[in-house]
Amino acid sequence: MKRAFILGAAALLAAGMPLQYVLAQSGKSAENAAAAKSKQAAEFAQFHDELEQDNPAELFEMKGKELWQAKRGPKHASLERCDLGLGPGVVKGAYVQLPRYFADVGRVMDAERRIVYCMVTLQGFKKADLAKQPFSTPDRTPDPVSLVAYVAAKSRSVKSATPQNNAQEREAYAVGREIFNYRAGPYDFSCATCHGQMGKRIRRQDLPDLASKQQAINGYQGWPGYRLTGGLMHTLQWRMNDCFRQQRFPEPGYLSETITDLLTYLAVNANGHVYTGPGIKR
Ligand code: HEC
Repeated sequence: MKRAFILGAAALLAAGMPLQYVLAQSGKSAENAAAAKSKQAAEFAQFHDELEQDNPAELFEMKGKELWQAKRGPKHASLERCDLGLGPGVVKGAYVQLPRYFADVGRVMDAERRIVYCMVTLQGFKKADLAKQPFSTPDRTPDPVSLVAYVAAKSRSVKSATPQNNAQEREAYAVGREIFNYRAGPYDFSCATCHGQMGKRIRRQDLPDLASKQQAINGYQGWPGYRLTGGLMHTLQWRMNDCFRQQRFPEPGYLSETITDLLTYLAVNANGHVYTGPGIKR
């Protein structure tokens, strides 16, 4: 594990970041775009490539695998009978077909929501306990985070194919699209304000156009991901939560319907792209 690289990159990224948001349209011509690519971005790209070859996310995949197979919880059961949509116990390829409709609960669920559902029903954990501190901190990586990493890794190199086969799945997509475009809050921001056009940047970070077929995959690629900022493993539940915060919206509840709908919107937009597995994020 290239710890020195991780620390170096984190320090690099922490340096020189202005506090205020600088919402910038990057240049229109290729020339301008190239000029806008800062030295820092190039250095980050290099760190990123080196790290991906020796990916810290793999530690969490391994931990997740152990958690998946171990008999745990009040019911002393493993998650090996958990149905992620392809039948009980089938993990390979399941992540890139989520969120999807589950007849046993009569609703659409994303990966983390379904995994927590299995922890509750099969192992007897309490959802309220799992929701208390759902995001990684320097002291603790919650079990669902490692489990999502394991499940996601089993879809590495598989094409995204989130289904739109029934009314519930289509509704989740439609509601997700509404939320994505809904402007409110003190700055009148929507997700689309930051993620609805090509070539937008905040500070030095490129913001993908998540409404486009071409770039929507960026919303999924590398998630769950090991974030150099802070050195923590995070899932898309965290990413959504943090973007609600950036949008100055009230934070949604952990595993809420709103997040599932948004993730359905993002996942379906990203269909057809090959998912490369848990990765590295800044
Ligand atoms: C104020 C601007 C802003 C708003 C509004 C915003 N985001 Fe973000 N979003 C960001 C920034 C900044 C990042 C981090 C980019 C990076 O680290 O490279 C990000 C990252 C993401 C990513 C991960 C992209 C990647 O390349 O890994 C997703 C997915 C995402 N946002 C979705 C959303 C959704 C859904 C909403 C609406 C609920 C939203 N964002 C609202 C600024 C915003």
